Amino acid sequence: MKKALITGITGQDGKYLTRLLLSKGYEVHGLKRRTSTSVNVDSMPESEKLFIHNGELTDSSSLMQTIQKIQPDEIYNLAAQSNVAMSFEMPEYTADLDAVGVLRILETIRILGLEKHTKFFQASTCELFGNVKTSPQNESTPFYPRSPYAIAKLYAHWITVNYREAYNIFACNGILFNHESELRSESFVTRKITMSAARISLGLQDKLFLGNLNANKDWGHSEDYTEAMYLMLQNDTPDDFVISSGETHSVREFASLAFREAGINLEWSGEGINEKGIDTDTGRILVEVDPKFFRPSEVNLMLGDSSKAERILGWKRHVTFRELIRRMVKHDIESLKEEKN
Ligand code: NAP
Ligand code: GDD
Repeated sequence: MKKALITGITGQDGKYLTRLLLSKGYEVHGLKRRTSTSVNVDSMPESEKLFIHNGELTDSSSLMQTIQKIQPDEIYNLAAQSNVAMSFEMPEYTADLDAVGVLRILETIRILGLEKHTKFFQASTCELFGNVKTSPQNESTPFYPRSPYAIAKLYAHWITVNYREAYNIFACNGILFNHESELRSESFVTRKITMSAARISLGLQDKLFLGNLNANKDWGHSEDYTEAMYLMLQNDTPDDFVISSGETHSVREFASLAFREAGINLEWSGEGINEKGIDTDTGRILVEVDPKFFRPSEVNLMLGDSSKAERILGWKRHVTFRELIRRMVKHDIESLKEEKN
């Protein structure tokens, strides 16, 4: 039976990947911070093949003990300070976790002599492309990171490539474009919007405040992206792959569709910080811009090209942009109604 270790098991992707690997017969081990407040681990599938270990990516000794004990066939490194806006407030912590944390895992694999035994997946990001000069972005597009988060992930990306080339570790980077789900935290714009649309439609909230409405992102569903992670480690050779939906949509467009799913038609009026989303039926202002959500430097256009992953891994996305929004809003309305009752 194959053993996998997932760091960041309590996060959005951790939960979907756990389900996938359990369904494939893996023994799944998860690294969890003792201080984790995430509820995701409580809603993990009941399985005698699922084991949780306390540990931190900032602490080599917990990594060493956990990896030595499990001797995993595969490690999926999903743990991170994953919030781009927060990385401007905590740049040093973000670097320690998102950059040096990855080095700590790779060094552990090397020091324990597991180079030939343990395959490694790194959750890399389209944020590496940042201030893009060409679209769509693929594996050959130059990197131009625009935040402390993206710069930490740049180190993580290259140290993964380096340990593959220097020590022959089966190590892969998944250059993941934005992926969301019903488990996404509200600190990210999609879930903030779907929860707000749901609350507003049920009379539980008056207004939604957003930052940059013009950012264009390439959004998919976490279930599809975690499948790509698994496929990368089953490939014959280790490599790096872009995983994306191949479509780009603005934050404004996401909000319009989410409100429509909640039964509200928005029309947009005004420009810049004065732009507003107005309910066409009632004339009420439901969405406003608050500059406190602007970032010191922004990534304005993301559009991925996953043809390499489709060709080599046989990967394809199943959940469309509209289906993603439909699932998130439906989930949020149903769970709020349940709470209310
Ligand atoms: P997420 O929901 O924010 O999950 C992050 C995970 O990291 C949580 O389980 C968190 O645990 C854990 N973690 C945080 N600090 C840790 C530490 N010091 N030691 C150990 N674990 C720690 O993120 P996600 O959306 O699932 O993303 C998974 C990975 O993919 C991340 O590395 C992210 O940067 C990358 N990525 C995501 C996207 C996307 O659109 N979702 C796109 C590109 C790349 P707690 O419960 O303790 O907080
Ligand atoms: N969070 C947030 N909150 N973002 C907002 C808001 C708001 O109120 N209003 C507008 N935005 C814009 C942000 O400025 C950004 O351009 C876009 O919405 C998406 O922001 P997030 O949802 O926070 O995601 P992200 O793209 O910065 O980061 C996510 O995707 C990356 C891959 O592109 C995270 O999952 C990262 O971990 C991941 O690497």
